[in-house]
Amino acid sequence: MASPVKVCVTGAAGQIGYSLVYMIGSGAVFGPNTPVSLHLLDIPPMMGALEGVCMEIADCALPCVRDVVPTADPAVAFNDIDAAFLVGAMPRKEGMERKDLLAANVKIFKVQGEALDKYAKKSVKVLVVGNPANTNALICSQYAPTIPKENFSAMTRLDQNRAQAQIAARLGVPVAEVKNCIIWGNHSSTQFPDVRHATVNGKPVYEAVNDDAWLMGDFISTVQKRGGAVIAARKLSSAMSAAKAACDHMSSWWNGTPDGQFVSMGVFSDGSYDTAPGVMFSFPVHIKDRKWSIVQGLPIDDFAKGKLEATGKELCEERDDAMSVCAAAQ
Ligand SMILES: NC(=O)c1ccc[n+]([C@@H]2O[C@H](COP(=O)([O-])OP(=O)(O)OC[C@H]3O[C@@H](n4cnc5c(N)ncnc54)[C@H](O)[C@@H]3O)[C@@H](O)[C@H]2O)c1
Repeated sequence: MASPVKVCVTGAAGQIGYSLVYMIGSGAVFGPNTPVSLHLLDIPPMMGALEGVCMEIADCALPCVRDVVPTADPAVAFNDIDAAFLVGAMPRKEGMERKDLLAANVKIFKVQGEALDKYAKKSVKVLVVGNPANTNALICSQYAPTIPKENFSAMTRLDQNRAQAQIAARLGVPVAEVKNCIIWGNHSSTQFPDVRHATVNGKPVYEAVNDDAWLMGDFISTVQKRGGAVIAARKLSSAMSAAKAACDHMSSWWNGTPDGQFVSMGVFSDGSYDTAPGVMFSFPVHIKDRKWSIVQGLPIDDFAKGKLEATGKELCEERDDAMSVCAAAQ
């Protein structure tokens, strides 16, 4: 039997964590024959709830789960890990400004970056889910200087899955027939869901849908606002779909993307597509041997250019705000 993949989930007692630990334990990410060791981190007041999650993992009798380590100590949670799902974050409270939320979360991801740097394997793959995901991932990497920056990414896969599902519903086709939807930029309402390069059964989506006004209007705003629509209906934010997307993201990173297909991930910009170098920008990427590369050469029309600029501008502002929070906390 292979030695287990050591996987950390932070915020493991929360909503997303509840679905995510089951999916990882079921073999959905690292394979049905790969044992996993689950390191579950949450904050001290949540240790009771986390204990309950551990009981349920045991009661699932999952063959892949070798052992489970519940803890409130990042040194234990990140010890020698191969993969990290950083879900735990401060939720937005009533009356809280976006800037206050950013400040609270940036501090969490600074501390976790430092702990990853100290305790995790240098090959660790870090996926940041907790919001603001792109900027949290940037800060986390900044404070983990001995881990390659390519090992940090932010989740926009839920937005990609939402875009794919909207197109499939519109055309009345199974969701798997829709490929290569792209999310550009920030995981926020400025993101640009783009199906200009997407296909359905090999045919361009723009041709199959044959309604440019919808694709350039309501389709984009539906995907951008889908998180809010789920909150309005459920009174809680997306959790099952967020956990599924986190598994999809890590599975693509671990196992690679099929030839001719790409997925969207928030990764360090190298300036591709005229974006600001150094921000965590969501791009279409190919993945091979656990290394992503930005898909190059896609034609960008004026409509897309404007959208990329707007979301890139927001990411630069978030980065500047986050850096000043970190500098003030030194
Ligand atoms: N990127 C995306 O697509 C996406 C989608 C959905 C949700 N999210 C974000 O994911 C995060 C989690 O969502 P949720 O619904 O599971 O929230 P939740 O409030 O149910 O759970 C969050 C958990 O994180 C824990 N936590 C807080 N600070 C922590 C710390 N410093 N270390 C470890 N754990 C800590 C909390 O105690 C809680 O158990 C939120 O920031 C949410 O906005 C992102």
